[in-house]
Order: sequence, then C-alpha cells, then structure tokens
Amino acid sequence: MKTDRNISNIVLVGFMGTGKTSVGLKLAEIMNMTFVDTDDLIEKDSGMTISDIFKNMGEEHFRDLESKVAESVSEKENHVIATGGGIVKREKNIQNLRRKGLLFCLDARPEVILQRTMGYNHRPLLQVDDPIGKIKEMLKEREPFYSKADYRIDTSDQTIDQVTESIVKFYKNFISWENSR
Ligand code: S3P
Repeated sequence: MKTDRNISNIVLVGFMGTGKTSVGLKLAEIMNMTFVDTDDLIEKDSGMTISDIFKNMGEEHFRDLESKVAESVSEKENHVIATGGGIVKREKNIQNLRRKGLLFCLDARPEVILQRTMGYNHRPLLQVDDPIGKIKEMLKEREPFYSKADYRIDTSDQTIDQVTESIVKFYKNFISWENSR
C-alpha cells in the first residue's frame, strides 16, 4: 500500500548560502524537471525585490507572501523547488511543500555560509554588523525546523555535482521503495 504522499517534486530547504539554487538548477537538468525558486516567484508576483519588501513592508509581510507562494508551488508536479531559508519557520509551509515533495535540507558550516554570502547585499537578514554571530544564532533557532526534512546533506566540502548526485540517489531510492509497497 502506498502512503498518501504522491511524490513528484524535489524540495530544497536550508539556510542562506547552502547551495539550494545552484544544486536545484543542476537537479532539474539531470532529472528533467522544471526548476522554480520561491524567492523569484515572490519578486515576480509583487514586482519588488526581496530587499525592498523587507524594507518597506517588513518581514511578516514577506513571510505572508512566501506562504502564499509555498501553497501554490505545492500543487506542481515534476518540479525542483528551491525555497528561501526561512520558509520552514511556518509549519503550514512545510506541510504544503511535503504534499507532493520530498524535502531535502542543505546544510553548511557558519564560516562557509559567511564566505558564500558575503559580497552580496540582497539578503536583508545578513546586512548586520556581526554576520557570523547572526548566522550562528539563526542556525540554532531554525535547527528544529530544518530537522523536519526527509534527508539532510552538508554541502560545506562538496561540489554541486556531488550534492546533486546524493539527492538523486536518495530520491530514486525513495520512489522505487514507494512503488514496491
Ligand atoms: C531568507 C532567505 C532568503 C530570502 C530572504 C529571507 C531567510 O533566501 O528568502 O532574504 O529568512 O533565511 P535564500 O535562502 O535563498 O538566500
């Protein structure tokens, strides 16, 4: 008997700078799936950049837009869905994304996250005086949410191809296990 999860999407969650977009694009190519990024959809729908949404409307408003996007992308099939790092903070978003998707959490050490994100200014939450302190604090706060993923992978010392390969392997194993039940 199958579970009620009819999985056909790969969902990437995880902190900023863990490689969700790069890995997601590669995954979509290999798996012949369509790539979407929730941040891109929010910017497209609102006609504003993420930074301007945070600056002019505040984080809660951004989270509301993000929840709407999480709900609509959850209806998709055969998609690789890369998400913003904070999407997991609302349980409802996780529930929606899990309906047709297997959740992969990408992790990285705080120093690696800092290195990968510094030099870019489109992430308002990291525009602070002590970004490494902020990264550590947020990782700790979000750990209970990231731990809800079906599979986690530390991308700190791995190439995009290696991370992609692990995800493909896990995803294919899951699908064949589901089909054999
Ligand atoms: C955020 C992560 C960002 C973006 C926004 C908030 C977060 O996405 O959604 O700046 O709360 O972690 P990325 O994880 O794609 O950088």
